[in-house]
Amino acid sequence: MSPAAGRAPVAGEMTAGDAQAQRDVVYMRNALAIGRRNLGLTAPNPSVGAVLVSYASGEPVVVARGITQPGGRPHAERVAIDAAGPAARGATLYVTLEPCSHHGKTPPCAEAVIHAGVARVVYALADPDPRVSGRGAALLRQAGLAVTGGIEEAEAARSHIGHVTRVTKGRPAVLLKLARTADGYAAAASNERLLITGALANARVHLMRTHADAILVGLNTVVADDPRLTTRLPGLEHRSPVRVVVDSTLALPLEAGIVQSAGAPPTWVITTIDAPVAAERRLVAAGVEVMRVGADERGRVRLDEGLRLLAVRGVTRVFCEGGPALAEGLAQADLVDELAIATGPRRLAAPGLAAVGPALARHLETRLRLVSEEPAGEDVFQHYERA
Ligand SMILES: NC(=O)c1ccc[n+]([C@@H]2O[C@H](COP(=O)([O-])OP(=O)(O)OC[C@H]3O[C@@H](n4cnc5c(N)ncnc54)[C@H](OP(=O)(O)O)[C@@H]3O)[C@@H](O)[C@H]2O)c1
Repeated sequence: MSPAAGRAPVAGEMTAGDAQAQRDVVYMRNALAIGRRNLGLTAPNPSVGAVLVSYASGEPVVVARGITQPGGRPHAERVAIDAAGPAARGATLYVTLEPCSHHGKTPPCAEAVIHAGVARVVYALADPDPRVSGRGAALLRQAGLAVTGGIEEAEAARSHIGHVTRVTKGRPAVLLKLARTADGYAAAASNERLLITGALANARVHLMRTHADAILVGLNTVVADDPRLTTRLPGLEHRSPVRVVVDSTLALPLEAGIVQSAGAPPTWVITTIDAPVAAERRLVAAGVEVMRVGADERGRVRLDEGLRLLAVRGVTRVFCEGGPALAEGLAQADLVDELAIATGPRRLAAPGLAAVGPALARHLETRLRLVSEEPAGEDVFQHYERA
């Protein structure tokens, strides 16, 4: 409760400023929650959430919400302002990313916000895009709006990791997912298919797929498992990202499911400049897109170059589903930004392929930190992010 007007708050009593700060956090969390809904749909733009709140009556009233639309436009602020109409006048805009200030394919959101008569803007994360950084907020302040930045900044950095990584590092953010048996194996040495996790954990992985712009796998995983790599959750089937295979010599079999179904969703292969042209022709004829990058000292795909190429194609969030050799390659090149490990309840108790190899173990120890550990049925999900 706020102290009565006209007297100083007594010790322990909440000031009007404290109450407003709490509301700012509540509505920013709301903006973050709705912004996350379109993850995987808005590339190359971030999926931003916006909430317009009117304090005209003294109590907060949500007048509109907006999310960046599929394909990246219109931006969330524009959606919320258009939905609010005249109710935007005098309102407070909560937005997960600093409003843009540059003329791109659409006029800058900062101008739209000013034009709509918004009185105050609260944003979570300053945009690392050099065309915007700090300028969006400056434009708003110059026009006389009150501006507060940095509210729930860490959570916004998580939501917008794809955009931030693409803008600051020139590559997409990589979330590596691995499943392992209770004794640490990703696969049996015998080549027989190993079912490590249960239905709940698998559904969670399908949901994680929808939040990515691309799914990445190594060639051996395609050869061993012939995975479809699509989202098969009821109602979310249309949210299957592009499938990308890392394959140094274009050995991807034409019979593989992801080749046979290329186009729905698209299948891309990242290979080396030395890979045979005849193999490329066959894959292209089957509807696969082939991209060439340099080879490392072992003749394998340079993963840093491959990821940069994906960023050029607008990919901001990569969900890597293994296997362990690709995971090692990514860890060696310091390209794993987040790691999700699902550990099943059963032991393999036989020779197998370790889920976490030496490079990933080192990466885990030196670069990542555990942020959550949650059960999913009989399995346990551990989530790591950069320390
Ligand atoms: N439990 C899990 O989470 C999980 C997930 C996926 C797969 N799996 C299992 O793991 C096994 C396959 O895994 P895997 O470790 O053998 O292979 P993988 O990681 O699926 O694929 C590795 C292959 O990718 C190609 N590649 C190209 N450039 C690379 C680079 N820079 N770094 C690393 N690899 C590169 C290499 O073949 P070329 O050089 O010939 O192109 C390499 O042999 C299967 O049994 C599968 O069932 C388990």
